Amino acid sequence: MNAVDYRNQTTIVTGASSGLGEAFARQLAARGSNLVLVARRADRLERLAEELNRTHGVTVTTVARDLGRPDAGRTLRTELETRGIHATGLVNNAGFGTHHAFPDEDPDRLQSMIALNVAALVDLSHAFFAPLTAAGNGVLINTASLLGFQPTPYMSAYGATKAFVLSFTESLWEEARGTGLRVLAISPGAMDSEFFDAAGSQSADYGAKRISPEDVARIALKTVDRRSAPPSVITNGRPLAFASRFLPRRAVVHMMGSLQRRAMNRG
Ligand SMILES: NC(=O)c1ccc[n+]([C@@H]2O[C@H](COP(=O)([O-])OP(=O)(O)OC[C@H]3O[C@@H](n4cnc5c(N)ncnc54)[C@H](OP(=O)(O)O)[C@@H]3O)[C@@H](O)[C@H]2O)c1
Repeated sequence: MNAVDYRNQTTIVTGASSGLGEAFARQLAARGSNLVLVARRADRLERLAEELNRTHGVTVTTVARDLGRPDAGRTLRTELETRGIHATGLVNNAGFGTHHAFPDEDPDRLQSMIALNVAALVDLSHAFFAPLTAAGNGVLINTASLLGFQPTPYMSAYGATKAFVLSFTESLWEEARGTGLRVLAISPGAMDSEFFDAAGSQSADYGAKRISPEDVARIALKTVDRRSAPPSVITNGRPLAFASRFLPRRAVVHMMGSLQRRAMNRG
């Protein structure tokens, strides 16, 4: 397969009001894709839509929506199709993390996180999988995380949601092989965004140097352009993922626990 031609495509980007989703929206618009931008903060989406339409001449639709509900994908597809919008690409990027010792986690926030990071992502992927496949040259990009490669004490539920996204998306990559739909899980390490504000902690990055959302989006789009694209790509912090592949499980969990405890003491 050759580089994706995004002209005449319509790509949905969730979590487009900041960070990585905003970076995806900018780079997809620059490549000529029409967009559907989804997040809760309408003002930010509208400002971005106006700018991308003015700068790149693409059509940008905004949907101000809390995606944290189990029928998020089905509802969005029905709504868009009623408006005559037929998506050919989907970037499932909306997500957040929490950073506490498990007994201190807010149980409602944990459920909201699982609803968004896991349930909504699956429903969105399912609702759009058939039309994206039918489009012939669509993309499905799901944002996982470097923390999806190993258990993450003190971000235990967040890391587990991202392990789910990684496993789920790599399975879809195999199921989509030969159909023309390109599926990719992206696993950023620490990234400079509002993620750490939402997590209530600036120390959840283990002190690692943060990559920019622009670089992450660039790596992701370059990866799906490849003739033989892999099911997933780690954008930064690869040694951590490799360590967890080769070290005994017990050593990996201990290592992650002490990294996190050190980070929490710093923060
Ligand atoms: N930053 C990191 O170090 C890092 C590393 C690996 C993976 N990630 C992943 O990267 C993705 C993007 O995060 P980011 O780092 O760019 O953080 P961010 O700047 O906080 O962006 C998160 C986005 O998700 C949206 N969102 C949150 N809750 C939502 C909800 N209930 N319904 C709809 N949209 C919602 C937010 O928009 P509204 O608030 O307007 O709804 C925002 O646009 C996430 O999946 C995150 O887990 C981040």
